[in-house]
Amino acid sequence: MHSSVSLLIFLYLELHLNQDKMKYKPLNKDLIQKALERIFSQVIILEEIDSTNEFAKRVIKEGINDKVLIIAEEQTSGKGRMGRRWFSQKYANLLFSLILSPKLDKKWTFSINMALAISLIEAIKEDYKIDAMIKWPNDIYIGNKKLAGILTELFLDLNIIKHMIIGMGINVNWAPEDKTLLYPATSLAKEKGEYIDRETILISILTRFDNYYKKILTGEVKELYKKWNDNCMIIGKEISIVQDKEIRGVAVKIKEDGSLVILKDGKEKTIMYGDVSLR
Ligand code: BTN
Repeated sequence: MHSSVSLLIFLYLELHLNQDKMKYKPLNKDLIQKALERIFSQVIILEEIDSTNEFAKRVIKEGINDKVLIIAEEQTSGKGRMGRRWFSQKYANLLFSLILSPKLDKKWTFSINMALAISLIEAIKEDYKIDAMIKWPNDIYIGNKKLAGILTELFLDLNIIKHMIIGMGINVNWAPEDKTLLYPATSLAKEKGEYIDRETILISILTRFDNYYKKILTGEVKELYKKWNDNCMIIGKEISIVQDKEIRGVAVKIKEDGSLVILKDGKEKTIMYGDVSLR
């Protein structure tokens, strides 16, 4: 390619990308620290990190392991479920991990994930009048587009949760456009048509989460259990689940342990994991 054409393309890209970045504001660290100091023993806000989940593992190794919140403005190797990547733009979205050490049986893992998913759904419903739903196991969708995902990693002592890392990525002001993505993505800003303040939504989600989490610690999960089924977008729908092979059926309910019950050829079948799509 002619060198002046390459230079023009380079300048255009530079300008374009930097303009994109200029739209976004860094998080107000003081505001977040003050609002969440009641809930977390530590709030760590990083400019750039490989992955907040990976950083959380290093924090656990240091011996700090309960009620820690780690937020990153940018991840260089953001991780998604099933070995996938999680993409974001610096200062645009919410990327965080919680370290919890609940000392509960591992069967409570799903409830804790759902507490975070429901907290997000309730926060954006109340603050922005946006309806979102859960796509089993723990993605959050607006319509047929993905808004957020959760990646949980467990450290078990036999069946007891010694530590858990719950990582959440929320597309607040930016969503990947990539047409090759497995699922199309959206952001709160796209849905609302305006820039969304990240601090407000983060504080709202984590305050709600803390209330649900305290209830889980005392075994009070009925309300949460109902909410996750009421807010699950696949219940009553024809779905296909991809594991090693494809399984088709109608989604009936999500059980307390997080497994999915489907109706297939007139019989109920319990599915433990997989990638679901609506048919
Ligand atoms: C998924 O839907 O596949 C789960 C995505 C989880 C992404 C978040 S972003 C913060 C935390 N750190 C990571 O590396 N991943 C999770």
